[in-house]
Amino acid sequence: MARINEHYLKLKAGYLFPEIGRRVRAFTEANPSAKVIRLGIGDVTLPLPPVVLDAFHAAVAELGDGRTFRGYGPEQGYDFLIDTLIEKAYAPLGVRLKRAEIFISDGSKCDTANVLDIFALDNRVAIGDPVYPVYNDTNVMIGRSGPAGGDRGGIVYMPCTEANGFFPDLPEGRVDIVYLCSPNNPTGTAAAAAQLEGWVDYALANDAVIFYDAAYEAFITEPGFPRSIYEVEGANRCAIEFRSFSKTAGFTGVRCGLTVVPENVAAKTPAGEAVPLNRLWNRRQTTKFNGVSYPVQKAAAAVYTDEGWRQTKANIDYYMGNAKVIRDGLSSAGLTVYGGVNAPYIWLKTPGGLSSWDFFDKLLTECHVVGTPGSGFGPSGEGFFRISAFGNRDSVAEAVDRIRRRLK
Ligand code: MLT
Repeated sequence: MARINEHYLKLKAGYLFPEIGRRVRAFTEANPSAKVIRLGIGDVTLPLPPVVLDAFHAAVAELGDGRTFRGYGPEQGYDFLIDTLIEKAYAPLGVRLKRAEIFISDGSKCDTANVLDIFALDNRVAIGDPVYPVYNDTNVMIGRSGPAGGDRGGIVYMPCTEANGFFPDLPEGRVDIVYLCSPNNPTGTAAAAAQLEGWVDYALANDAVIFYDAAYEAFITEPGFPRSIYEVEGANRCAIEFRSFSKTAGFTGVRCGLTVVPENVAAKTPAGEAVPLNRLWNRRQTTKFNGVSYPVQKAAAAVYTDEGWRQTKANIDYYMGNAKVIRDGLSSAGLTVYGGVNAPYIWLKTPGGLSSWDFFDKLLTECHVVGTPGSGFGPSGEGFFRISAFGNRDSVAEAVDRIRRRLK
C-alpha cells in the first residue's frame, strides 16, 4: 500500500473556514427560519467593477475568434499585465521593478504556500501568532514541525498581542525566513514604516528572507503605512512580496494574484554559494504552473485603468464604510475593538472572558451572526474574534444592531 505524507496527520482535522461552514450548516439545518448573516470568511460580495467585466467579456470573445485565439500564455504572466503593475501599482509608490521580477498567479494563497518549494526544510521559520493559517499549515504539511503535540521543530511563533500592538517583535535567536502580513489578517492592524524598517534591517543583518503578504494593501487609508515592503530601503535585497486581486477587485472567485521576487534576493546552497531566488521561482513556476487565463489577466489589467480604478476604489471604500459601521457600533456597545481602519477586518476582544469558540457559538445561536474565532488563527488569538467587513451594508448594520441589543 502507498504511504501518506504523515505530516498531514499533525494538522487540526479541518481547515478553519470549512470548519466554520460545517458548524453554520448544522445550525441552519436545525433552525431553517434563522436569517443568518455571514461575516466570517473574508469573501467579497460586490460584483466585479463594470470596466473590469467589460475587459473580461472582450477577452473571452477574442478566444472565440480564430484571428485572436490564444493557447498557452507565458507561465509568468502576460507583459501587458506585468507592465501595468509596474507602472500603476508600484511606480506611484516610488518602487521600480523589472518585468522579470513579477510573476502572475492564480492567487496569493497558493503562492505563499508554494514558495516553500524553493527553500530547504531545515530553515528556521518565524510566523506571527495569530495570523493567516495557511502559513503555519503549509509548513507543517512539508514537515517543518515536530510530532503532533510535541515541539514545533523549525517554526518559531511570534505572539502578536495587545501589548505589542499586534506586530511581531524581533526574535531573540536567528531565523532564516519570516512571514509578515500587513495589513494583518486577522487583527486588521497595519505595519508602520518604522516597524518594517526594523524587520528589513534584521533580515539583511541575518541573511534572512521576508515573505511579505500584502493582500490587503489596497485597504490602507492612513499615511505612514507602506503598501509595499519595497518602499523600505533594502527590502529589494531580502523580501518576496505577495499581492492579490481577490479583495482589492473582487477576484476571490476569478483568481489572480502576483508574487514579486526581486533579482537581488538570494539564499545559499549547503556549500554557501548564494543563488538568486528569482531563478528558482521561475524554474518552479514554469515546471508546475501554466499561467493564469488570458481573460482573467485582461480583467486584472483593467482594474488599473483610470475608470477601472475609480470603480474598484469605490468598492474598497464601500467595504471600509462597513468596517467603520462595525467598529463604531461595537465599540459604542462597550466592546474593545481593533483594526477596521487600514484593513477590512475588525478584531474584537470577546466580552466576559469568553473563549473565541464560545463567543462564536453565542453569536451564531443568539444573534444569527457568523464571525471567525480568533483562536483559529493561532493560540494568541484566543479570547479574540474577527468580523469581516465584506458583507453588504444593510446586513452589516443589522448584524451590529443584533450584537448590540444582545450585549445590553
Ligand atoms: C480569510 O477570511 O481569512 C480569507 O478570506 C481567507 C483567504 O484569503 O484565503
